[in-house]
Amino acid sequence: MKLLVTGGAGFIGSNFVRFMLREDPDAQIVNFDKLTYAGNLDNLRECETNPRYAFVRGDIANAGQVREVLSSGGFDAIVNFAAETHVDRSIGSPSDFLNTDIFGTFCLLEAVREFAISRYIQISTDEVYGTVPVGSSTETAPLNPSNPYSASKAGGDLLVLSYFRTYRTPVLITRASNNYGPNQYPEKFIPLATTNVLDNQPIPLYGDGMQIRDWLFVEDHCRGIQTVLLQGKEGEIYNIGGDQERPNREIAELILSILDKPKELIRRVADRPGHDTRYSLDCSKLKKLGWHPTVAVEEGMRQTVTWYRDNRWWWEKIKSGEFKKYYQEHYGHRLEESTTLDEEDAR
Ligand code: NAD
Ligand code: DAU
Repeated sequence: MKLLVTGGAGFIGSNFVRFMLREDPDAQIVNFDKLTYAGNLDNLRECETNPRYAFVRGDIANAGQVREVLSSGGFDAIVNFAAETHVDRSIGSPSDFLNTDIFGTFCLLEAVREFAISRYIQISTDEVYGTVPVGSSTETAPLNPSNPYSASKAGGDLLVLSYFRTYRTPVLITRASNNYGPNQYPEKFIPLATTNVLDNQPIPLYGDGMQIRDWLFVEDHCRGIQTVLLQGKEGEIYNIGGDQERPNREIAELILSILDKPKELIRRVADRPGHDTRYSLDCSKLKKLGWHPTVAVEEGMRQTVTWYRDNRWWWEKIKSGEFKKYYQEHYGHRLEESTTLDEEDAR
């Protein structure tokens, strides 16, 4: 199978490229990635000499570049990971999110039609359902996004579904919960908290830290995507969750306990605007195809924290560059006004 993987230099995309090359000896992969601040070819060092892997730099929102990469021919499927992905950045600066997550999706869909690609997988997110106070979202739940990132992803999803209904374009959508694992850019909660603690720096916990996310080990996600790629039905949506719902505060405490650090490192900071308090996915549809998540968050976190501890070369470079400015702007002021959990409990 020859795959065009878009956004393959990011966190999940690079894990997926490595996973497919390892699991499927027939897989050939062309990774098409713009290399934004979140794209990192260090994630794919081990693939560079693999004859079944090639990298092409390009933008999914540039129809000419998309056409050019597909012109090399023979693609059986496109798996689209390319997106702007960080909720906090979408609140400060939404336009790139609309451009890549909606217009970029449109350019890919047009190319799928033009080149008669026989399968297109849109990698989407549980965030499109918005906050779920009770119960779990099935694939037919209404879309109720809360921030420019999730609204852009919802827009992309709707466009994908419209291409199925209008043109019978062979599309499928996966909606996953919060991923964690190796190579996640350290702006996201788990790698940010882990690398901060490794440097004896605080964990900034938004609000009361009781927001619930369903944590999915990235390799379980990759297997879920592979299942959809091979067995999913065109025009359908598949949820992919970890069955591991935990409040953020518990995740912060878990990191500290794995690294044997004091709980004073947790600092409560001003909350994210429009912060969704709980996500929860009903994944019975994908489970009927034989997939299920295999990694409990306590075990997955042990592996993940160990990876960041042993791979400082990977994240120190990132955190010492442009990231420093972002961190100061995003957290500097909030950390100055932060409290420890004990101070907050004593109020
Ligand atoms: P990431 O931010 O780590 O990587 C995104 C990648 O896309 C980067 O390599 C970047 O260079 C590339 N990219 C961005 N804009 C592009 C463009 N215009 N053209 C080509 N490449 C471009 O993201 P991630 O966390 O790996 O997420 C991958 C996908 O999975 C996204 O679609 C995201 O919405 C979805 N998702 C993520 C999670 C999660 O927890 N991280 C959960 C559910 C769904
Ligand atoms: O649910 C799937 C989504 O998960 C994906 O679609 C997104 O691409 C991905 O970024 C992620 O979104 P979140 O907003 O849930 O992830 P983030 O890692 O930014 O935050 C996880 C939780 O931790 C969230 O409730 C906010 C909180 N948080 C985050 C950061 C960065 C903190 O408390 N402190 C922080 O410093």
